[in-house]
Amino acid sequence: MIAGWRPKGADYAAALAAAAPQRVGVVTSVIGLGLEVSGLDCALGDLVTVGEHPGLDAEVVAALDGSVRCMPLGRLAGVAAGDPVRTKGGAVLVPTGPGLFGRVLDGLGRPIDGKGPLLSGPRVAIDNEAPNAMKRARIDTPLQTGVRVLDTMTTLGKGQRMGLFAGSGVGKSSLLSMIARGTDAEVSVIALVGERGREVREFLEDDLGAAGLARSVVVVATSDEPALMRMRAAFTATRIAESFRDQGQDVVLMMDSLTRVAMAQREIGLSAGEPPATRGYPPSTFSILARLLERAGTAETGSVTGIYTVLVDGDDHNEPIADAARSILDGHVVLDRKLAVTGHFPSVDVLGSVSRVATKVNSRPHLDAAATLRRVLAARKAAQDLIDVGAYQAGTNPLVDAALNHEHEVSGFLQQPMDESTAHPESWQRLGHLTSILGAAA
Ligand SMILES: Nc1ncnc2c1ncn2[C@@H]1O[C@H](COP(=O)(O)OP(=O)(O)O)[C@@H](O)[C@H]1O
Ligand SMILES: [Mg+2]
Repeated sequence: MIAGWRPKGADYAAALAAAAPQRVGVVTSVIGLGLEVSGLDCALGDLVTVGEHPGLDAEVVAALDGSVRCMPLGRLAGVAAGDPVRTKGGAVLVPTGPGLFGRVLDGLGRPIDGKGPLLSGPRVAIDNEAPNAMKRARIDTPLQTGVRVLDTMTTLGKGQRMGLFAGSGVGKSSLLSMIARGTDAEVSVIALVGERGREVREFLEDDLGAAGLARSVVVVATSDEPALMRMRAAFTATRIAESFRDQGQDVVLMMDSLTRVAMAQREIGLSAGEPPATRGYPPSTFSILARLLERAGTAETGSVTGIYTVLVDGDDHNEPIADAARSILDGHVVLDRKLAVTGHFPSVDVLGSVSRVATKVNSRPHLDAAATLRRVLAARKAAQDLIDVGAYQAGTNPLVDAALNHEHEVSGFLQQPMDESTAHPESWQRLGHLTSILGAAA
């Protein structure tokens, strides 16, 4: 240093950082969906850039002896062994604030809707701790979805985590869009993960519509994007929902679909060298799911009500992801293909669905009314075989009689057109009216 020259603290630190030698690693191999890099000092989760400007961003998913494995956040094509790799440093930042309403973002929180730059509030690190279990507020307030069958038969509570289980084409996405439009929550955050590009546009333009979009934030990673982007989209959406919760707001976070998030983690885990376990899913899949779902829920103030769709192919309810999700979530709504094919929408299988918080958020008379309708539906289901062959004799079971005599009223209550939304009080009023018609029998 020149004698007598004393640089100021901050300038000095900046000058030192700029002058520090930067370590450059090299790509040693590109195999399958990932790449191996040697010569870098990196930790798990660090971001790196492969190649020269602008380069390809990638994330460290495994650290080995002397090298690290990375997964790309873009297309791997063109990356070769010997390419330089530099650490990027710093966590991934997620935009927050009311400027996000009506916007469609990619898995990294960048706008993809062509509506210009984001008017974002402060950006926050994507990683966050789940709220302390002891400090979480209890779930005691019902959340309106605007869908009669959900609001009365499987009432959701603010801060609940609910699964929507169904095969493909049974009405999951349509039901989510009904909820996005009909909910009384202040904010909707919608994550579309692993859908086809065409479905995304249909969802945004036809199902959600301009009015629904205006009060929502949508995060999209389509099926053709790298696994890491799809995984990121789930966490970015969750982080955005948390940022609104931190302001004391009630948020609905809808994820379509959780199964595709799990599939993305399967790709990541296997590429990182994890052993496949149940149906090829490496153990990390299940811990990531738990971590993701734990982030929703109530905090000290505000709430994130999580609604996650889970794909159930065929009737395979022992599918490992459906199984794991069911054990973590506080309730499940099952959509039934048999109802969907007869044009009964929303195709909710009332008897197969349950909300574990319903008893905590509903009054006694409301619970009684819901129980009455359940009893009638259950009796009818038990007698369905007899009814189908014409062997049911009127008068045998008053509950079945009530169901058959008032079939029209029951389905009028349970079915609901997509563009119709019913407020909570009206739903309960209609259910009260229905149970009084079903009579003292019930
Ligand atoms: N409430 C509804 N009213 C009328 N039709 C519906 C309703 N919900 C879903 N559908 C029909 O079901 C089809 C498949 O629904 P979708 O939500 O795309 O299923 P999934 O997301 O489970 O694959 C839709 O194209 C639509 O025709
Ligand atoms: Mg869908």
